[in-house]
Amino acid sequence: MISLKVNLGERSYPICIGQGLLNRGELLTQYIPGNSALIVTNEVVAPLYLARVEAALHDIKFKTLVLPDGEQYKNQDTLNSIYDCLLTNRLDRNTTLIALGGGVIGDITGFAAASYQRGVHFIQIPTTLLAQVDSSVGGKTGINHPLGKNMIGAFYQPRTVIADTDTLNTLEDRELSAGIAEVIKYGLIRDLPFLEWLEKNMDKLLTRDPKALAFAIERSCRNKAEVVAADERESGQRALLNFGHTFGHAIETGMGYGNWLHGEAVASGMVMAARLSEILGWITADDVHRIIDLIERANLPVKAPAQMTPEKFLEIMSIDKKVSDGVLRLILLKAPGKSVFTQDYDKDSLITAIKASY
Ligand code: NAD
Ligand code: GLY
Repeated sequence: MISLKVNLGERSYPICIGQGLLNRGELLTQYIPGNSALIVTNEVVAPLYLARVEAALHDIKFKTLVLPDGEQYKNQDTLNSIYDCLLTNRLDRNTTLIALGGGVIGDITGFAAASYQRGVHFIQIPTTLLAQVDSSVGGKTGINHPLGKNMIGAFYQPRTVIADTDTLNTLEDRELSAGIAEVIKYGLIRDLPFLEWLEKNMDKLLTRDPKALAFAIERSCRNKAEVVAADERESGQRALLNFGHTFGHAIETGMGYGNWLHGEAVASGMVMAARLSEILGWITADDVHRIIDLIERANLPVKAPAQMTPEKFLEIMSIDKKVSDGVLRLILLKAPGKSVFTQDYDKDSLITAIKASY
């Protein structure tokens, strides 16, 4: 097992990465301070992995809530169903919420934990590649609003993250690729050697070579943990982790939640951000081709959906969380492996970049 630490003072926590971790109940129970817990999972993950988590909790009074599956359920109604379950079962302030699933379950359960009785204990057991490399780490929690992705939420760190890489064996290929989008992101924004490793090892990731997957998860989590430790609440550097996301979130919102996977929308969005970086003269056309080539090899989209007109992109992007005093700041590339968070671009270039992306 590999264990990394997210350094956040008294809120520091470990990320455990390895095979068979769901069978090691003590990894979980040592982070449950009280005698009650609520496991939140969904109808796809429950039949696969719930029994093992429940078995680990044999000494603890626990309840289980199985939610419907899908991004379209990351909303206020589903959040309310978690509060209903907590209240009807009289689960108190010393309860631990355990998120078992992908990023949707992690985000919504984390927000329930952040807000229920002003905060209860929270543990992440991510079961998708995307959740193991990104969403379970760093404490961003929340739900979608019909007008904007992840618009309601809180920063709320888990007590531990347990990433059992065996769970990835049951993941659909399309979901594996969606996770690879966030892996590529780390290479592009801040880790050129990792980007080069990905160029050499993409086929191994796609065939789920356990060593390659373990390396990619560890390296991604190291990158994320460093950034989060330096800027937990996104006053600067953490924004870089949103490379491609402003375009991507617009695609998810505009296409209807669940139609494009988050990772797919991010992949397309990263190409759009790269194109704008090229138009501004910061990277070369060869750099853009290099990025497109890697993303295509991961079986991810490199074009914007035809249904999303440039006007629709601009309209949805104007309520992005990175808008400050009416100005949309974007994450752009100065080189492969080097990114900036900037408002130093002009609207015409942005429109040209969007138009070049179909
Ligand atoms: P997801 O949670 O919808 O999971 C993808 C699909 O895989 C679902 O159908 C799920 O039921 C299924 N699944 C989960 N584990 C499985 C397994 N082991 N085997 C088989 N099927 C399995 O999607 P995701 O890609 O994990 O996460 C996307 C979400 O994460 C988005 O809502 C996005 O906004 C959010 N996100 C949050 C952060 C953050 O920092 N909090 C970062 C990135 C993304
Ligand atoms: N996924 C972006 C962040 O955690 O900041």
